Amino acid sequence: MKVDVLLGLQWGDEGKGKIVDVITPDYGVIARFQGGPNAGHTLEFEGRKHVLHTIPSGIFHDNQLNVVGNGVVIDPVIFRREIEKLKEHNVDVNKQLLISRKAHLILPTHRLLDAASEQEKGNKKIGSTLKGIGPTYMDKTGRNGLRVGDVLGPQFEERYESLRGKHLRLLGHFEGFEFDLDPMEKEWLDAVEYMRDLTFIDSEHYLNNQLRKGERILAEGAQGSLLDIDFGSYPFVTSSNTISAGACTGLGIAPNRIGEVFGIFKAYCTRVGSGPFPTELHDETGELLRAKGHEFGATTGRPRRCGWIDLPALKYAIMINGVTRLIMMKADVLSAFEEVKVCTHYEYNGEEIDYLPYSIDPSEVKPVYKSLPGWHQDLTGMRNIDELPKELNDYIEYLEKQLEVPITVVSVGPDREQTIRRDSVLA
Ligand code: GDP
Ligand code: IMO
Ligand code: MG
Repeated sequence: MKVDVLLGLQWGDEGKGKIVDVITPDYGVIARFQGGPNAGHTLEFEGRKHVLHTIPSGIFHDNQLNVVGNGVVIDPVIFRREIEKLKEHNVDVNKQLLISRKAHLILPTHRLLDAASEQEKGNKKIGSTLKGIGPTYMDKTGRNGLRVGDVLGPQFEERYESLRGKHLRLLGHFEGFEFDLDPMEKEWLDAVEYMRDLTFIDSEHYLNNQLRKGERILAEGAQGSLLDIDFGSYPFVTSSNTISAGACTGLGIAPNRIGEVFGIFKAYCTRVGSGPFPTELHDETGELLRAKGHEFGATTGRPRRCGWIDLPALKYAIMINGVTRLIMMKADVLSAFEEVKVCTHYEYNGEEIDYLPYSIDPSEVKPVYKSLPGWHQDLTGMRNIDELPKELNDYIEYLEKQLEVPITVVSVGPDREQTIRRDSVLA
Protein backbone atom coordinates (compact mmCIF):
# COMPACT_ATOMS: atom_id res chain seq x y z
CA MET A 1 0.00 0.00 0.00
CA LYS A 2 1.01 3.61 -0.55
CA VAL A 3 0.53 6.89 1.25
CA ASP A 4 -1.54 9.45 -0.65
CA VAL A 5 -0.74 13.08 0.05
CA LEU A 6 -3.18 15.97 0.05
CA LEU A 7 -1.75 19.48 0.10
CA GLY A 8 -2.36 23.09 -0.85
CA LEU A 9 -0.93 24.52 -4.08
CA GLN A 10 -1.30 28.22 -3.30
CA TRP A 11 -0.77 30.32 -0.17
CA GLY A 12 -2.84 28.15 2.16
CA ASP A 13 -6.57 28.05 2.99
CA GLU A 14 -7.39 26.23 -0.23
CA GLY A 15 -9.94 24.01 1.55
CA LYS A 16 -7.71 21.12 2.64
CA GLY A 17 -9.74 20.44 5.79
CA LYS A 18 -13.00 20.09 3.88
CA ILE A 19 -11.59 17.64 1.33
CA VAL A 20 -9.68 15.52 3.87
CA ASP A 21 -12.97 15.12 5.74
CA VAL A 22 -14.77 14.17 2.51
CA ILE A 23 -12.28 11.50 1.45
CA THR A 24 -11.46 10.13 4.92
CA PRO A 25 -13.83 7.13 4.50
CA ASP A 26 -11.51 5.88 1.72
CA TYR A 27 -8.61 5.58 4.22
CA GLY A 28 -7.71 3.87 7.48
CA VAL A 29 -5.34 6.51 8.84
CA ILE A 30 -5.11 10.29 8.39
CA ALA A 31 -1.73 11.81 9.32
CA ARG A 32 -0.74 15.51 9.56
CA PHE A 33 2.88 15.93 8.51
CA GLN A 34 3.96 19.52 9.22
CA GLY A 35 2.97 22.95 10.50
CA GLY A 36 1.15 23.54 13.73
CA PRO A 37 -1.54 25.83 15.11
CA ASN A 38 -0.78 28.41 12.40
CA ALA A 39 -3.14 26.23 10.34
CA GLY A 40 -6.91 26.56 10.45
CA HIS A 41 -8.73 23.77 8.64
CA THR A 42 -12.48 24.24 8.34
CA LEU A 43 -14.99 21.40 8.07
CA GLU A 44 -18.73 21.81 7.64
CA PHE A 45 -21.38 19.13 7.93
CA GLU A 46 -24.85 18.68 9.40
CA GLY A 47 -25.20 22.45 9.71
CA ARG A 48 -22.11 22.76 11.95
CA LYS A 49 -18.74 24.34 11.32
CA HIS A 50 -15.53 23.06 12.96
CA VAL A 51 -12.05 24.56 12.76
CA LEU A 52 -9.06 22.30 13.44
CA HIS A 53 -5.54 23.61 14.02
CA THR A 54 -3.29 20.69 14.93
CA ILE A 55 -5.57 17.66 14.81
CA PRO A 56 -5.99 15.88 11.45
CA SER A 57 -9.23 16.53 9.59
CA GLY A 58 -10.29 12.86 9.68
CA ILE A 59 -11.17 13.12 13.38
CA PHE A 60 -14.96 13.31 12.90
CA HIS A 61 -15.13 9.82 11.39
CA ASP A 62 -15.47 6.86 13.76
CA ASN A 63 -13.47 4.21 11.93
CA GLN A 64 -10.24 6.05 11.18
CA LEU A 65 -7.18 6.76 13.27
CA ASN A 66 -5.59 10.20 13.21
CA VAL A 67 -1.88 10.74 13.66
CA VAL A 68 -0.05 13.95 14.50
CA GLY A 69 3.30 13.29 12.82
CA ASN A 70 6.86 14.08 13.87
CA GLY A 71 7.00 17.05 11.47
CA VAL A 72 4.23 18.89 13.33
CA VAL A 73 4.84 21.44 16.11
CA ILE A 74 2.37 21.34 18.99
CA ASP A 75 1.30 24.06 21.38
CA PRO A 76 -0.10 22.10 24.34
CA VAL A 77 -2.47 24.96 25.24
CA ILE A 78 -4.10 25.07 21.80
CA PHE A 79 -3.99 21.28 21.52
CA ARG A 80 -5.84 20.84 24.79
CA ARG A 81 -8.48 23.39 23.75
CA GLU A 82 -8.99 21.57 20.45
CA ILE A 83 -9.39 18.23 22.21
CA GLU A 84 -11.87 19.62 24.73
CA LYS A 85 -13.98 21.03 21.89
CA LEU A 86 -13.96 17.68 20.13
CA LYS A 87 -15.13 15.95 23.30
CA GLU A 88 -18.18 18.25 23.29
CA HIS A 89 -18.99 16.70 19.91
CA ASN A 90 -18.62 13.19 21.31
CA VAL A 91 -15.35 12.45 19.54
CA ASP A 92 -13.48 9.74 21.43
CA VAL A 93 -10.10 11.45 21.24
CA ASN A 94 -8.27 8.89 23.36
CA LYS A 95 -9.24 6.16 20.93
CA GLN A 96 -8.83 8.07 17.68
CA LEU A 97 -5.80 10.30 18.14
CA LEU A 98 -2.14 9.25 18.21
CA ILE A 99 0.75 11.67 18.64
CA SER A 100 4.32 11.21 17.52
CA ARG A 101 6.86 11.28 20.33
CA LYS A 102 9.14 13.18 17.96
CA ALA A 103 6.79 16.13 17.34
CA HIS A 104 8.27 19.33 18.78
CA LEU A 105 6.64 21.47 21.46
CA ILE A 106 5.88 25.18 21.12
CA LEU A 107 6.84 26.90 24.38
CA PRO A 108 5.26 30.15 25.61
CA THR A 109 8.62 31.82 25.02
CA HIS A 110 8.54 30.67 21.36
CA ARG A 111 5.35 32.68 20.99
CA LEU A 112 7.00 35.68 22.62
CA LEU A 113 10.03 35.38 20.34
CA ASP A 114 7.72 35.23 17.30
CA ALA A 115 5.97 38.43 18.43
CA ALA A 116 9.24 40.20 19.30
CA SER A 117 10.76 39.32 15.94
CA GLU A 118 7.70 40.58 14.06
CA GLN A 119 7.62 43.80 16.10
CA GLU A 120 11.27 44.43 15.31
CA LYS A 121 10.74 43.88 11.58
CA GLY A 122 8.17 46.72 11.54
CA ASN A 123 6.70 47.16 8.05
CA LYS A 124 8.84 44.28 6.77
CA LYS A 125 7.10 41.81 9.04
CA ILE A 126 6.14 38.35 7.69
CA GLY A 127 2.59 38.63 8.96
CA SER A 128 3.13 35.54 11.09
CA THR A 129 0.15 34.02 12.86
CA LEU A 130 2.15 34.66 16.09
CA LYS A 131 1.77 31.05 17.18
CA GLY A 132 5.51 30.58 17.71
CA ILE A 133 6.02 28.49 14.58
CA GLY A 134 9.28 30.06 13.33
CA PRO A 135 11.13 30.02 16.69
CA THR A 136 10.03 26.41 17.37
CA TYR A 137 11.34 25.12 14.04
CA MET A 138 14.51 27.19 14.64
CA ASP A 139 15.04 25.33 17.91
CA LYS A 140 14.34 22.04 16.15
CA THR A 141 17.01 22.59 13.50
CA GLY A 142 19.26 24.28 16.09
CA ARG A 143 18.98 21.08 18.14
CA ASN A 144 17.59 22.79 21.22
CA GLY A 145 13.95 21.77 21.03
CA LEU A 146 11.72 19.85 23.43
CA ARG A 147 9.70 16.99 22.00
CA VAL A 148 6.46 15.32 22.96
CA GLY A 149 8.37 12.25 24.18
CA ASP A 150 10.35 14.43 26.62
CA VAL A 151 7.17 15.27 28.50
CA LEU A 152 7.30 11.83 30.15
CA GLY A 153 11.05 11.93 30.74
CA PRO A 154 12.60 12.44 34.18
CA GLN A 155 14.30 15.73 33.37
CA PHE A 156 11.49 17.52 31.59
CA GLU A 157 11.22 20.41 34.08
CA GLU A 158 14.96 20.98 34.01
CA ARG A 159 15.12 20.95 30.25
CA TYR A 160 12.17 23.31 30.06
CA GLU A 161 13.83 25.74 32.50
CA SER A 162 17.04 25.64 30.52
CA LEU A 163 15.37 26.44 27.17
CA ARG A 164 13.16 29.07 28.78
CA GLY A 165 16.28 30.74 30.23
CA LYS A 166 17.90 30.82 26.83
CA HIS A 167 14.78 32.38 25.31
CA LEU A 168 14.57 35.01 28.05
CA ARG A 169 18.16 36.02 27.35
CA LEU A 170 17.29 36.34 23.66
CA LEU A 171 14.15 38.36 24.44
CA GLY A 172 16.32 40.78 26.40
CA HIS A 173 17.89 41.85 23.10
CA PHE A 174 14.61 43.11 21.63
CA GLU A 175 14.21 46.75 22.54
CA GLY A 176 10.84 47.88 23.86
CA PHE A 177 9.26 44.43 23.76
CA GLU A 178 7.14 43.93 26.84
CA PHE A 179 5.58 40.72 28.04
CA ASP A 180 4.07 38.91 30.98
CA LEU A 181 5.24 35.30 30.86
CA ASP A 182 3.75 34.06 34.16
CA PRO A 183 0.10 33.50 33.13
CA MET A 184 1.18 32.04 29.77
CA GLU A 185 3.54 29.67 31.51
CA LYS A 186 1.02 28.51 34.07
CA GLU A 187 -1.50 27.67 31.36
CA TRP A 188 1.20 25.88 29.35
CA LEU A 189 2.43 23.75 32.25
CA ASP A 190 -1.17 22.73 33.04
CA ALA A 191 -1.67 21.77 29.39
CA VAL A 192 1.54 19.71 29.40
CA GLU A 193 0.16 17.85 32.40
CA TYR A 194 -3.04 17.24 30.43
CA MET A 195 -1.05 15.92 27.48
CA ARG A 196 0.53 13.22 29.62
CA ASP A 197 -2.73 11.24 29.41
CA LEU A 198 -2.80 11.22 25.60
CA THR A 199 -1.45 8.41 23.42
CA PHE A 200 2.15 8.94 22.30
CA ILE A 201 3.59 6.64 19.63
CA ASP A 202 6.64 6.14 17.44
CA SER A 203 4.60 7.18 14.45
CA GLU A 204 7.15 6.22 11.79
CA HIS A 205 6.97 2.59 12.97
CA TYR A 206 3.23 2.73 13.37
CA LEU A 207 2.59 4.12 9.89
CA ASN A 208 4.97 1.74 8.13
CA ASN A 209 3.40 -1.20 9.97
CA GLN A 210 -0.04 -0.04 8.91
CA LEU A 211 1.15 0.08 5.29
CA ARG A 212 2.52 -3.43 5.61
CA LYS A 213 -0.86 -4.58 6.86
CA GLY A 214 -2.49 -3.14 3.73
CA GLU A 215 -4.02 -0.06 5.38
CA ARG A 216 -4.48 3.07 3.27
CA ILE A 217 -2.97 6.25 4.66
CA LEU A 218 -3.73 9.87 3.75
CA ALA A 219 -1.09 12.48 4.61
CA GLU A 220 -2.64 15.90 5.29
CA GLY A 221 -0.60 19.01 4.60
CA ALA A 222 -0.94 22.42 6.16
CA GLN A 223 -0.31 25.87 4.65
CA GLY A 224 0.41 25.86 0.91
CA SER A 225 3.25 25.23 -1.53
CA LEU A 226 3.94 28.94 -2.01
CA LEU A 227 4.57 29.21 1.75
CA ASP A 228 7.14 26.39 1.68
CA ILE A 229 10.40 27.28 3.45
CA ASP A 230 12.50 26.33 0.38
CA PHE A 231 10.25 26.98 -2.60
CA GLY A 232 7.80 29.61 -1.33
CA SER A 233 8.06 33.38 -1.65
CA TYR A 234 10.96 33.56 0.83
CA PRO A 235 11.23 35.18 3.37
CA PHE A 236 7.44 35.56 3.39
CA VAL A 237 6.87 31.87 4.08
CA THR A 238 6.28 29.54 6.98
CA SER A 239 9.12 27.56 8.58
CA SER A 240 8.41 24.04 7.32
CA ASN A 241 8.37 22.05 4.09
CA THR A 242 4.73 22.20 3.07
CA ILE A 243 5.32 20.27 -0.17
CA SER A 244 4.96 16.52 -0.80
CA ALA A 245 8.57 15.88 0.25
CA GLY A 246 7.54 17.18 3.68
CA ALA A 247 5.25 14.16 4.02
CA CYS A 248 8.32 11.89 3.84
CA THR A 249 10.30 13.74 6.50
CA GLY A 250 7.25 14.67 8.55
CA LEU A 251 5.99 11.09 8.85
CA GLY A 252 8.96 8.81 8.20
CA ILE A 253 7.56 7.57 4.89
CA ALA A 254 10.03 6.67 2.14
CA PRO A 255 9.60 8.52 -1.20
CA ASN A 256 8.82 5.26 -3.02
CA ARG A 257 5.84 4.72 -0.71
CA ILE A 258 4.08 7.90 -1.88
CA GLY A 259 1.08 7.18 -4.13
CA GLU A 260 -1.31 9.87 -5.34
CA VAL A 261 -0.53 13.52 -4.70
CA PHE A 262 -3.76 15.51 -4.53
CA GLY A 263 -3.14 19.21 -5.15
CA ILE A 264 -5.87 21.55 -3.95
CA PHE A 265 -6.39 25.04 -5.33
CA LYS A 266 -9.07 27.70 -5.19
CA ALA A 267 -10.66 28.72 -8.50
CA TYR A 268 -9.06 32.09 -7.69
CA CYS A 269 -6.23 33.05 -5.31
CA THR A 270 -5.88 34.32 -1.76
CA ARG A 271 -3.07 35.14 0.60
CA VAL A 272 -3.04 36.18 4.26
CA GLY A 273 -0.04 37.97 5.75
CA SER A 274 2.67 39.86 3.89
CA GLY A 275 4.65 39.01 0.77
CA PRO A 276 4.37 39.18 -3.00
CA PHE A 277 1.12 38.15 -4.71
CA PRO A 278 1.28 38.91 -8.45
CA THR A 279 -2.45 38.66 -9.24
CA GLU A 280 -3.66 40.51 -6.13
CA LEU A 281 -6.60 42.85 -6.84
CA HIS A 282 -6.77 46.10 -4.91
CA ASP A 283 -10.11 47.11 -6.43
CA GLU A 284 -13.80 46.28 -6.06
CA THR A 285 -13.30 42.94 -7.84
CA GLY A 286 -10.91 41.91 -5.06
CA GLU A 287 -13.42 43.12 -2.49
CA LEU A 288 -16.20 41.14 -4.13
CA LEU A 289 -14.06 37.98 -4.08
CA ARG A 290 -13.41 38.52 -0.37
CA ALA A 291 -17.09 39.13 0.39
CA LYS A 292 -18.47 36.24 -1.70
CA GLY A 293 -15.74 33.82 -0.58
CA HIS A 294 -15.90 34.91 3.10
CA GLU A 295 -12.16 35.31 2.87
CA PHE A 296 -11.20 35.90 6.49
CA GLY A 297 -8.57 33.77 8.25
CA ALA A 298 -9.78 30.66 10.12
CA THR A 299 -6.98 31.09 12.70
CA THR A 300 -6.51 34.86 13.03
CA GLY A 301 -9.69 36.31 11.48
CA ARG A 302 -7.54 38.60 9.30
CA PRO A 303 -9.01 39.59 5.90
CA ARG A 304 -7.39 37.53 3.14
CA ARG A 305 -5.93 39.30 0.13
CA CYS A 306 -7.71 38.18 -3.06
CA GLY A 307 -6.94 37.94 -6.78
CA TRP A 308 -7.43 35.90 -9.96
CA ILE A 309 -5.99 32.43 -10.43
CA ASP A 310 -2.28 32.35 -11.27
CA LEU A 311 -1.24 29.59 -13.71
CA PRO A 312 2.56 30.10 -13.62
CA ALA A 313 2.42 29.78 -9.82
CA LEU A 314 0.16 26.71 -10.01
CA LYS A 315 2.39 25.03 -12.61
CA TYR A 316 5.36 25.58 -10.33
CA ALA A 317 3.55 24.04 -7.36
CA ILE A 318 2.42 21.06 -9.47
CA MET A 319 6.01 20.47 -10.58
CA ILE A 320 7.54 20.67 -7.10
CA ASN A 321 4.91 18.36 -5.60
CA GLY A 322 4.49 15.83 -8.40
CA VAL A 323 0.73 16.40 -8.32
CA THR A 324 -1.25 13.54 -9.89
CA ARG A 325 -4.79 14.86 -9.36
CA LEU A 326 -6.18 18.33 -8.91
CA ILE A 327 -9.06 19.45 -6.71
CA MET A 328 -10.67 22.81 -7.48
CA MET A 329 -12.36 24.64 -4.62
CA LYS A 330 -14.84 27.50 -4.32
CA ALA A 331 -16.10 27.44 -7.91
CA ASP A 332 -19.37 28.86 -6.51
CA VAL A 333 -17.63 32.08 -5.49
CA LEU A 334 -16.85 32.94 -9.13
CA SER A 335 -20.58 32.83 -9.97
CA ALA A 336 -20.62 36.50 -8.96
CA PHE A 337 -18.66 37.58 -12.05
CA GLU A 338 -19.61 38.29 -15.70
CA GLU A 339 -16.20 37.13 -16.79
CA VAL A 340 -13.42 35.30 -14.98
CA LYS A 341 -9.77 36.03 -15.54
CA VAL A 342 -6.83 33.66 -15.58
CA CYS A 343 -3.21 34.80 -15.33
CA THR A 344 -1.50 32.81 -18.06
CA HIS A 345 1.91 34.53 -18.11
CA TYR A 346 3.95 37.20 -16.44
CA GLU A 347 5.62 40.18 -18.03
CA TYR A 348 9.11 40.04 -16.58
CA ASN A 349 11.94 42.39 -17.60
CA GLY A 350 10.15 43.14 -20.88
CA GLU A 351 9.65 39.46 -21.70
CA GLU A 352 6.64 37.15 -21.43
CA ILE A 353 7.37 34.15 -19.21
CA ASP A 354 5.15 31.32 -18.00
CA TYR A 355 7.22 30.21 -15.03
CA LEU A 356 7.74 31.53 -11.52
CA PRO A 357 10.98 33.57 -11.45
CA TYR A 358 13.31 34.00 -8.44
CA SER A 359 11.58 37.23 -7.45
CA ILE A 360 7.85 37.67 -7.90
CA ASP A 361 7.80 41.18 -6.48
CA PRO A 362 5.01 43.22 -8.18
CA SER A 363 7.63 45.79 -9.26
CA GLU A 364 9.21 43.11 -11.50
CA VAL A 365 6.34 40.82 -12.39
CA LYS A 366 3.14 41.93 -14.15
CA PRO A 367 0.41 39.34 -14.70
CA VAL A 368 -0.97 38.82 -18.23
CA TYR A 369 -4.60 37.73 -18.25
CA LYS A 370 -6.97 35.79 -20.45
CA SER A 371 -10.71 36.37 -19.91
CA LEU A 372 -13.24 33.57 -20.00
CA PRO A 373 -17.03 33.92 -19.86
CA GLY A 374 -18.52 33.55 -16.37
CA TRP A 375 -21.36 31.16 -15.53
CA HIS A 376 -23.51 33.45 -13.40
CA GLN A 377 -25.46 30.59 -11.93
CA ASP A 378 -25.82 29.45 -8.35
CA LEU A 379 -23.80 26.24 -8.07
CA THR A 380 -24.29 25.59 -4.38
CA GLY A 381 -27.25 23.23 -4.83
CA MET A 382 -25.58 21.20 -7.56
CA ARG A 383 -24.38 17.69 -6.71
CA ASN A 384 -23.81 16.14 -10.07
CA ILE A 385 -21.32 16.72 -12.82
CA ASP A 386 -24.12 16.91 -15.44
CA GLU A 387 -25.63 19.93 -13.71
CA LEU A 388 -22.55 22.15 -14.07
CA PRO A 389 -23.00 25.07 -16.49
CA LYS A 390 -21.19 24.90 -19.82
CA GLU A 391 -19.04 27.96 -19.04
CA LEU A 392 -17.77 26.31 -15.84
CA ASN A 393 -16.97 23.10 -17.70
CA ASP A 394 -15.10 25.21 -20.27
CA TYR A 395 -13.16 26.91 -17.45
CA ILE A 396 -12.26 23.53 -15.92
CA GLU A 397 -11.20 22.06 -19.24
CA TYR A 398 -9.11 25.12 -20.04
CA LEU A 399 -7.29 24.81 -16.70
CA GLU A 400 -6.75 21.07 -17.16
CA LYS A 401 -5.21 21.68 -20.56
CA GLN A 402 -2.89 24.36 -19.23
CA LEU A 403 -1.92 22.46 -16.08
CA GLU A 404 -1.72 19.01 -17.70
CA VAL A 405 -3.25 17.30 -14.67
CA PRO A 406 -6.90 16.17 -14.37
CA ILE A 407 -9.25 18.10 -12.10
CA THR A 408 -10.98 15.27 -10.29
CA VAL A 409 -13.13 17.19 -7.81
CA VAL A 410 -14.98 20.49 -8.00
CA SER A 411 -16.19 22.02 -4.75
CA VAL A 412 -19.30 24.22 -4.88
CA GLY A 413 -19.76 25.17 -1.22
CA PRO A 414 -18.24 24.67 2.24
CA ASP A 415 -20.38 21.68 3.22
CA ARG A 416 -19.25 18.06 2.88
CA GLU A 417 -22.17 17.45 0.51
CA GLN A 418 -21.24 20.31 -1.83
CA THR A 419 -18.57 18.26 -3.52
CA ILE A 420 -18.73 17.03 -7.11
CA ARG A 421 -16.45 14.19 -8.22
CA ARG A 422 -15.50 14.33 -11.88
CA ASP A 423 -14.17 10.80 -12.05
CA SER A 424 -15.55 7.74 -10.36
CA VAL A 425 -12.43 7.01 -8.35
CA LEU A 426 -10.96 9.89 -6.42
CA ALA A 427 -8.48 7.89 -4.42
P1 GDP B 1 -7.68 25.01 4.72
O1 GDP B 1 -6.79 25.76 5.63
O2 GDP B 1 -7.03 24.67 3.42
O3 GDP B 1 -8.34 23.82 5.34
O4 GDP B 1 -8.85 26.03 4.33
P2 GDP B 1 -9.63 27.01 5.36
O5 GDP B 1 -10.58 26.22 6.15
O6 GDP B 1 -8.69 27.90 6.08
O7 GDP B 1 -10.36 27.97 4.33
C1 GDP B 1 -11.27 27.51 3.39
C2 GDP B 1 -12.62 28.23 3.63
O8 GDP B 1 -13.44 28.04 2.50
C3 GDP B 1 -13.38 27.66 4.80
O9 GDP B 1 -14.14 28.69 5.39
C4 GDP B 1 -14.29 26.63 4.16
O10 GDP B 1 -15.47 26.38 4.91
C5 GDP B 1 -14.62 27.31 2.86
N1 GDP B 1 -14.85 26.43 1.70
C6 GDP B 1 -14.26 25.25 1.39
N2 GDP B 1 -14.68 24.83 0.18
C7 GDP B 1 -15.55 25.75 -0.27
C8 GDP B 1 -16.30 25.89 -1.48
O11 GDP B 1 -16.25 25.09 -2.41
N3 GDP B 1 -17.10 27.02 -1.59
C9 GDP B 1 -17.19 27.94 -0.61
N4 GDP B 1 -17.97 29.00 -0.83
N5 GDP B 1 -16.47 27.85 0.53
C10 GDP B 1 -15.67 26.77 0.70
P1 IMO C 1 -3.64 26.56 6.51
O1 IMO C 1 -3.13 25.20 6.88
C1 IMO C 1 -2.73 30.62 5.24
C2 IMO C 1 1.00 32.40 6.69
C3 IMO C 1 0.91 33.55 7.66
C4 IMO C 1 2.19 34.30 7.32
C5 IMO C 1 3.17 33.18 7.02
C6 IMO C 1 4.06 32.78 8.18
O2 IMO C 1 -4.87 26.95 7.24
O3 IMO C 1 -3.75 26.70 5.04
P2 IMO C 1 3.69 31.50 10.47
O4 IMO C 1 2.70 31.71 11.56
O5 IMO C 1 3.64 30.15 9.85
O6 IMO C 1 5.08 31.88 10.87
O7 IMO C 1 3.28 32.55 9.33
O8 IMO C 1 2.39 32.06 6.64
N1 IMO C 1 0.28 31.17 7.09
C7 IMO C 1 -0.88 30.76 6.54
N2 IMO C 1 -1.64 31.32 5.61
N3 IMO C 1 -3.06 29.42 5.73
C8 IMO C 1 -2.29 28.82 6.66
O9 IMO C 1 -2.50 27.56 7.09
C9 IMO C 1 -1.15 29.52 7.14
N4 IMO C 1 -0.19 29.23 8.05
C10 IMO C 1 0.68 30.25 8.01
O10 IMO C 1 -0.24 34.32 7.43
O11 IMO C 1 2.00 35.03 6.14
MG1 MG D 1 -6.75 27.54 6.72
